[in-house]
Amino acid sequence: MNRRRRIYEGKAKILYEGPEPGTLVQHFKDDATAFNKKKHQIVDGKGVLNNRISEYIFSNLNDMGIPTHFIRRLNMREQLIREVEIIPLEVVVRNVAAGSLSERLGIDEGTPLPRSIIEFYYKNDELGDPMVSEEHITAFGWANPQEMDDIMSLAIRVNDFLCGLFLGVGIRLVDFKMECGRLYENDMVRIVVADEISPDSCRLWDMTSNEKLDKDRFRRDMGGLLEAYQEVARRLGLLNSNERVTGTGPVLVQ
Ligand code: TMP
Ligand code: ASP
Repeated sequence: MNRRRRIYEGKAKILYEGPEPGTLVQHFKDDATAFNKKKHQIVDGKGVLNNRISEYIFSNLNDMGIPTHFIRRLNMREQLIREVEIIPLEVVVRNVAAGSLSERLGIDEGTPLPRSIIEFYYKNDELGDPMVSEEHITAFGWANPQEMDDIMSLAIRVNDFLCGLFLGVGIRLVDFKMECGRLYENDMVRIVVADEISPDSCRLWDMTSNEKLDKDRFRRDMGGLLEAYQEVARRLGLLNSNERVTGTGPVLVQ
């Protein structure tokens, strides 16, 4: 029986109280949502793949000295994380024009950007996560100027790492979203990468065919979402070559 206290439930994850103070358990659900949940579907096995892919990315970030909330994976759907105070921002880093940037500015999808661009969105479902500037963020106290410097330098480091990681497996990192949190340790507070980084929160295109290997397959009704996530996991060496993840019997490497 599950007696853990549920702290928060979002669209794709649930947070439970952790085994020790200052820790939480992050549980990955199979729910796929888009456009602020106007579109919703259960995709059997998606949570298992995102848990594994996000674990791989966050462990690598930790190993490189880029601080994150991640401690370790607990099981197929759950990971142990440090409790942080989430900064209410979606930090988007773009390398190639796509999605809302292409729509807003009329730049063809697939156009390489002259340099990586960082954008901020205020995390607020009722308002539909509006885009905001550093001016709004510091004026309204969502983060202070020092924290914004830390967030931007983390975003650039994470982008550099992810670009290289995916390039090595024939995938172009078009853009991604990350979230940050304040980690309180003794008298110190520092900004760390939080939430998840997975094909739900990245645009990943096959380097040669430009095939989409991310949540746009769901947003744009293209089908094949699970197969695309499996392909990402397989290329990262997280899934054996002929395996398939289903809701019931996923077999992951390690
Ligand atoms: P966008 O082009 O729709 O603004 O998305 C930019 C990136 O952020 C893309 O990789 C998808 C990701 N993203 C999320 O993870 N959550 C969201 O709610 C949105 C709108 C985008
Ligand atoms: N995650 C957001 C939602 O569920 C939107 C998106 O990723 O497109 O509405």
